[in-house]
Amino acid sequence: MIVLGIESSCDETAAAVVTGEREILASLVLSQIDEHRPYGGVVPEIAARAHVEHLDTMIGRAMAEASVGFGELDGVAATAGPGLIGGVIVGLMTGKAIAAAHELPLAAVNHLEGHALAPRLCGDFPFPYLVLLVSGGHCQLLIVERAGAYVRLGTTLDDAAGEAFDKVAKTLGLDYPGGPALEKAARNGDPTRFDLPRPMMGRAGCNFSFSGLKTAVVHRLRDLGEGALDAATRAGLAASFQAAVADVLCDRSANAIEVMAERHPEARGFAVSGGVAANAALRAALAETAEANGFTMTAPPPWLCTDNAAMIAWAGIERLRAGLADGLDVPARARWALDPGAGLAAV
Ligand code: KG4
Ligand code: ZN
Repeated sequence: MIVLGIESSCDETAAAVVTGEREILASLVLSQIDEHRPYGGVVPEIAARAHVEHLDTMIGRAMAEASVGFGELDGVAATAGPGLIGGVIVGLMTGKAIAAAHELPLAAVNHLEGHALAPRLCGDFPFPYLVLLVSGGHCQLLIVERAGAYVRLGTTLDDAAGEAFDKVAKTLGLDYPGGPALEKAARNGDPTRFDLPRPMMGRAGCNFSFSGLKTAVVHRLRDLGEGALDAATRAGLAASFQAAVADVLCDRSANAIEVMAERHPEARGFAVSGGVAANAALRAALAETAEANGFTMTAPPPWLCTDNAAMIAWAGIERLRAGLADGLDVPARARWALDPGAGLAAV
């Protein structure tokens, strides 16, 4: 089975060709970071226009690199949401056009499903498993029962983890995008230098909250006074913030592992996925938590954690194998909860 994957839900224009044997024949990601940098965040209008401009070329290049013709494909998978609607429409319409022209089945993939199933693209990781999905737009703990079947145990009540990283990085005057820059700064800092809050920690359940932590960093900086942000202070704040996020993620994940162990006593798999899972310090902390609770943590390599089309192609393969092909009338959605029981309000 060979599937073309298309990802365009945020600021990456990506195309990939992946086989049912987990071979990534090509995976290309064109980042729009430079176009959004002057604004300090992603501008939806600019993103949509950039996807229109570059997607066809990216698909052509991915197919060439994989040495695969459209006639050799067994399906097309495109992100159909959630995300910035302009970009989602560009990718999904392109996927539909290729599927229609070459009479291929289409898989309309939920972007979160791409992140949630990515661990299975990396190796033999059996259903059911628990996944912590931490990205710029989302922070959720989910049980992955099988392709297309998810149970959400918790989500963020305010900011996503990556959003908090990005905002704190901006406050600290670090480069955009903030996550990787903050991780780098934190390497030289003392994580105990600033005593920051750990929202939700110790509470029952699996929900998250990050906006209070972000505000605490802003206040701490203000209290230090103007001119106090030297390299050591910046590193200390970055390290202290990262340590607080790690504590919260571990605490919430431990609760979710407990729920998982009750529902699926045979399950041992805990995966971490999404852009923030590229963070080495967080991965190490979460691996320790999993181990302490009798689970084994796995995380895709960093380039499969941040947005890419290989994970979308793989989710498409899983969906097509499960008989979950979509019609050409499937809509693009700005909001789309992975767990239908979770309700649209809390995507
Ligand atoms: O999954 P992703 O590429 O896009 C979304 O679906 O949102 O995640 C992007 C997010 C950004 O907030 C970025 O700052 C964060 O992931 N991120 C990191 C790291 N690398 C990316 N956060 C912390 N540490 C990192 N090394
Ligand atoms: Zn993502």
